Amino acid sequence: MTKVISHRGANKLAPQNTIPAFAKALEFGIDGFENDVHLTKDGRLVICHNYDIDQTSNGTGLIQDLTFDELRKYDFGSYFSEDFAGTKIPALEEFLDLCKGISVINIEIKSPKQPNTDIARKVINMVKDFNLFDNLIISSFDEKILLECKEVDPKTRTGMLYAPDEGPYEEIFEDKIAFAKKYDIQAYHPFAMFVDEEYIQECHDIGVRVNPWTVNPEDAMRTLRDWGCDGVITDYPDVAVKVMREGK
Ligand code: G3P
Ligand code: CA
Repeated sequence: MTKVISHRGANKLAPQNTIPAFAKALEFGIDGFENDVHLTKDGRLVICHNYDIDQTSNGTGLIQDLTFDELRKYDFGSYFSEDFAGTKIPALEEFLDLCKGISVINIEIKSPKQPNTDIARKVINMVKDFNLFDNLIISSFDEKILLECKEVDPKTRTGMLYAPDEGPYEEIFEDKIAFAKKYDIQAYHPFAMFVDEEYIQECHDIGVRVNPWTVNPEDAMRTLRDWGCDGVITDYPDVAVKVMREGK
């Protein structure tokens, strides 16, 4: 069955990438979460889409320049709705506390702006501490991050993200099968428009899963389900859960 992977939590109903957004998605019976992880100045793992907090909080600045305690003083809810006033930036461990019974824990790591942050190692070790490693898939637009994951633990599942003009799309367009083998990836996470039934079949033939994003129209969810797509990363987990369970 095609898995429903909630993009930044239920981000249309609660502020994206926060505990309320993840908790709301859980209410719908999702299979998986997608989120974005960054390192603070003092080496803590926090969840936020952007490198900075300007658009999703009442603060400003790059996460890498702020300590965890400094970040926690800001309000990551009011910009979305006063109903969420006081919502904090989540530490990765707070999110992992919610992940029991979740079969796809998709953590995206964006290319750090500073080299040698060791973020992949820190994410993998924390997920292992929570005994959730078997459900982890680390995705990135940066194939070097995915290679780092394999260096930390070759059993880490990795997903290659790409989009028009983003990620190593030219090399993937040239030969996505060769690319998958070269980087030992377990899944492609393509921009949804790149996927058709043949694409999914070709990936499945070599044991690679397909989890496109961002799959929001209901008819697209249904089509991908019928093509045997492994997962859909969506902003509408409530709709997707209904579509994937139709006739079951
Ligand atoms: O992981 C899928 C998607 O989240 C990648 O793009 O910009 O939403 O992180 P973005
Ligand atoms: Ca993401």
